[in-house]
Amino acid sequence: WIAAAVGLAIAYLLGSIPTGYLAGKLLKGIDIREHGSKSTGATNVLRTLGKWPASMVLLVDILKGVGAIAFARGFCLWLSTVPSATPPAALDLQKSEPWAVCLAGLAVLLGHSRSVWLNFTGGKSAATGLGVLLAMSWPVGLGAATVFGAALAISRIVSLSSMLAALTAMALVCGLEQPLPYRLLVIAGGVYVIVRHRANFQRLLAGTEPRLGKVA
Ligand code: G3P
Repeated sequence: WIAAAVGLAIAYLLGSIPTGYLAGKLLKGIDIREHGSKSTGATNVLRTLGKWPASMVLLVDILKGVGAIAFARGFCLWLSTVPSATPPAALDLQKSEPWAVCLAGLAVLLGHSRSVWLNFTGGKSAATGLGVLLAMSWPVGLGAATVFGAALAISRIVSLSSMLAALTAMALVCGLEQPLPYRLLVIAGGVYVIVRHRANFQRLLAGTEPRLGKVA
């Protein structure tokens, strides 16, 4: 349990790294949460700071998701080699790894959007979610990324594309042979990402959601 709590805290802190906020402070001396959609995500960085900062923030936010899953797997592997005085003698890697992936994935998503360094504000966890998906199961991640790209090319609306990608990931993880913890991660994480987009959803209904290239 102590190992699980330490692992969760590390994944949460990784997600908490305030990439978009730091880009705003370092490049323009601004708090990005006071501009555009007020999100610290790459889309708002694109609106507020431009293409290069947005690309860097996007990349780092995806890598936070990948890193949390890689860390969970590595941590489990390491724990499975540590002998214990009480039975079971060591961690059962096959059983525990998918659960560690599930918990680390949820923790990194939470950290990104509720950062401990930003008074529990942040982004909407779409890019970090993509990183989680790609590291958890590349076919699920690739499917979600493809739908995101297609929806973005057609609509030019990032939030709509993110929500459609989250729904696609949920459908794929249920349709493809995936372990139960992976399904729980993608369904809970997908619902969370969609809920984080509720203001965007209302703007979509009102027809006021900005398209790429327009100011929020
Ligand atoms: O991932 C965030 C994106 O889907 C929407 O961002 O800034 O338009 O609310 P934003």
